Amino acid sequence: MADILLVEDEVNARQVLSMGLETQGHRIHTCAGPDEARLALKQQAFDLVLTDLRMEGRDAGLEVVSMAAASQPRPKILLITAYASTETAVDAMRLGAFDYLTKPVSMDELHEAVERALHSEQASHDSDDEVIASSHDGLLIGTSPVMQRVRERLQRAAKRDFTVLITGESGTGKEVAARFVHLHSPRSEQAFIPVHCAAIPEGLFESELFGHCKGAFTSADADRKGLVEAANGGTLFLDEIGEMPLNIQVKLLRLLQEHSFRRVGEDCERHANVRILAATNRDLIAEVRDGIFREDLFYRLNVVPVHMPSLRQRREDIPLLITALLQRMGETITVDDETIAQLAELPLKGNVRELENLLQRLLALSDGDSLDISILDDFDDIHPEKETNLEAVSLGNGNLDDALEGVERRLIEQAMERTKQNATLAAKELGITFRSIRYRLKKLGIKD
Ligand SMILES: Nc1ncnc2c1ncn2[C@@H]1O[C@H](COP(=O)(O)OP(=O)(O)OP(=O)(O)O)[C@@H](O)[C@H]1O
Ligand SMILES: [Mg+2]
Repeated sequence: MADILLVEDEVNARQVLSMGLETQGHRIHTCAGPDEARLALKQQAFDLVLTDLRMEGRDAGLEVVSMAAASQPRPKILLITAYASTETAVDAMRLGAFDYLTKPVSMDELHEAVERALHSEQASHDSDDEVIASSHDGLLIGTSPVMQRVRERLQRAAKRDFTVLITGESGTGKEVAARFVHLHSPRSEQAFIPVHCAAIPEGLFESELFGHCKGAFTSADADRKGLVEAANGGTLFLDEIGEMPLNIQVKLLRLLQEHSFRRVGEDCERHANVRILAATNRDLIAEVRDGIFREDLFYRLNVVPVHMPSLRQRREDIPLLITALLQRMGETITVDDETIAQLAELPLKGNVRELENLLQRLLALSDGDSLDISILDDFDDIHPEKETNLEAVSLGNGNLDDALEGVERRLIEQAMERTKQNATLAAKELGITFRSIRYRLKKLGIKD
């Protein structure tokens, strides 16, 4: 039996839903609107909150969703909407809803959705062992609240062909997240094709992605399928999407909007049924502002935004990750609590990937059957402090834009100096794309 808060302003609907839930054996508390719901949430903990979207002539249900998402312990949240609009579903998910039902709601649907939501809560309280066991099929390890929210959003987005844009620092599991979406989607039996945009030379991009026909260019001695066709029926994962050349961005937009594309050198249109996922560790909005990423494509990709938290935002997951990563490496070594605590203290700017690498280094260099963390003292790559040296930034006579441009210029000049004028390395240091640094060097009139 679960405690359910039902928020619905319409008397009849409230009674029908409430009776339906009672016959399923739950305890129901009803409210007629967001104000009553606020009180109820303050007074009592609920396992599940089921709320109508349209109340009092506005989307008041979204307020209930966010109030419920903020209460402790956090209930599961289901939204009932009269309009099956994608935007509302996405908004509700952004705010923390688990799922949504479209009116008229049948008792079967209601029953199924409620059980699924309640069951998913049980899953999150499952033992660590089960979380680890399932990690081998692309599952994201971590039981912290922030990771649970990410997982739920990915799971929710997986059900339909929404485009998901996964952002996050390097090593936070963006690719794992993409595989997770694919595995939880109706396309899971079909291909999952990752495309590492940064690794494809600009001149070959179009043909890699869309294929070519014989004779399209000098080295094209046969017809060739591209990655889009290879992913037909399945999922195409565009990793490091910020590195995609502008002319290809136009073609991708067309694929997203019309599901059609052309092989290089061919006149006829081809059709592809692919679901697109994309990832980036760059600030795409800044790249849009700088004119190196198309705004229309950005919005088309960013239907469901998912930000992967850094390891610093979920330190409580580190012990579990250590156990799981060692297990994945096939190691049976035990790690004492002291060592785990010390590892968890490290800055780990490279996130899970860095943790993985550190464990490998420790395994390689420790002797005996325990990890010797003092080994790490011999290495100075563990605490890489980036020197930015921004002492005394002031507006001077100019405005904010001028001041920011001054800072930008200084950081870029310093990076160029450190890398002996190597723009590729400087871009890497600054965490921006090569195209972005080229654009900035030109804009600021810095010689490279
Ligand atoms: N939540 C997680 N659970 C289990 N393994 C993870 C998790 N996050 C990351 N990893 C592991 O860390 C490594 C890096 O993950 P991944 O390649 O997905 O990161 P990324 O965000 O794509 O990084 P980059 O931006 O550098 O490409 C992989 O070995 C992956 O298996
Ligand atoms: Mg990656």
